[in-house]
Amino acid sequence: MSTPASDAFPQRNTPNLSAKKHGENASLVDGFGRHVNYVRFSVTDRCDFRCVYCMSEQMTFLPRARILTLEELAALGRALVELGVRKIRLTGGEPLVRQNVLWLFRELGRLHECGLKELVLTTNGSQLGRLSAELKAAGVARLNISLDSLNPERFRRITRVGELKTVLRGIQAAQAAGFQRLKLNAVILKGRNHDEVTDLARFAIENGLDISYIEEMPLGIIGDHDRAEAYYSSDAIRADLAHAFTLIPTTETTGGPSRYYRIPGSETRIGFISPHSHNFCGDCNRVRVSAEGRLLLCLGQEHSVDLRHVLRAHPGNRERLKQAIAAAMAIKPHGHDFQLGSQPVILRHMSHTGG
Ligand code: GTP
Ligand code: 5AD
Ligand code: SF4
Repeated sequence: MSTPASDAFPQRNTPNLSAKKHGENASLVDGFGRHVNYVRFSVTDRCDFRCVYCMSEQMTFLPRARILTLEELAALGRALVELGVRKIRLTGGEPLVRQNVLWLFRELGRLHECGLKELVLTTNGSQLGRLSAELKAAGVARLNISLDSLNPERFRRITRVGELKTVLRGIQAAQAAGFQRLKLNAVILKGRNHDEVTDLARFAIENGLDISYIEEMPLGIIGDHDRAEAYYSSDAIRADLAHAFTLIPTTETTGGPSRYYRIPGSETRIGFISPHSHNFCGDCNRVRVSAEGRLLLCLGQEHSVDLRHVLRAHPGNRERLKQAIAAAMAIKPHGHDFQLGSQPVILRHMSHTGG
């Protein structure tokens, strides 16, 4: 479902709805006064893993004609930066399985000259062995790498097809390529990997990595486990970690939803992403673009604008694109309304959405 901007206004008054004029001070501001300066692109819905919290085992992927071309993504990146976006994260699916994706990284990397501050990537790590050096050269600043278990069989069960050792080698390759502050993302599920939170933190500390523990979000039908039964809260994780470490709360931010703690004597940041237990929507600074080019104003709602249509109906018309993006700010909802019931309310999978 796409919510046309004109249908979405009745929810409230429409203050401040869009972008200030372009140039140095351009900025995207939503109806709640939140500044949107972070955009996540799902560059493909495809992935070489099938993580149980993200996908069902049998997925039908989008045909190529329905996903944005790399050129369209590059044009979108430029328009967004001109509107004041300072951070672009490529995600998926697995961004690094998309053919020629390095071209896109290089194109987006050039936007640093126009105001982009951080070009970043979220990946499952499977391709980092071969691509880390080129990603670094393209101007990628930071990588977030999914890692839910350090046990090879468990890792296989959670990803359904992934190989732990390939990902561990990928992490090493990224470090060798000079990436600093790599962050691990661990989705914690009761009965699957909740007993590994301390081992994962230890692994992060020993290898000079940051780590975020994530509460599973109910997106799409996954056909694997009952999400309510698998729920393991950030507070439970923090209590488990407290048996082994002293956790000091901080106000540090990486611009995403993680709340970070520090462990004295270590450089590692321990983060918690807690959509259920500590809602962070009030500080939301981001929107996402799905693989099909829908500008999604919230991960947990359907409010969106079809930017693929704008790109294809008005090729090369950046002003038109910018107008569509700026106008969309008015329909950014206040936040998600995730329920861990038997059926997810949002049927699109995480891989399609871009996390
Ligand atoms: P940093 O730039 O390092 O702060 O990364 P990030 O946490 O923004 O990005 P990452 O791709 O590593 O996402 C980690 C988790 O946070 C994933 O499960 C995302 O789906 C989730 N996440 C990111 N942004 C949002 C959001 O706006 N709402 C919700 N509910 N989850 C989000
Ligand atoms: N809930 C929470 N996090 C998820 N991810 C994928 N699916 C889900 C979900 N249902 C995480 C992955 C990856 C990031 C992009 O999103 O672990 O790190
Ligand atoms: Fe692929 Fe990431 Fe989804 Fe796992 S969580 S299936 S690695 S897109």
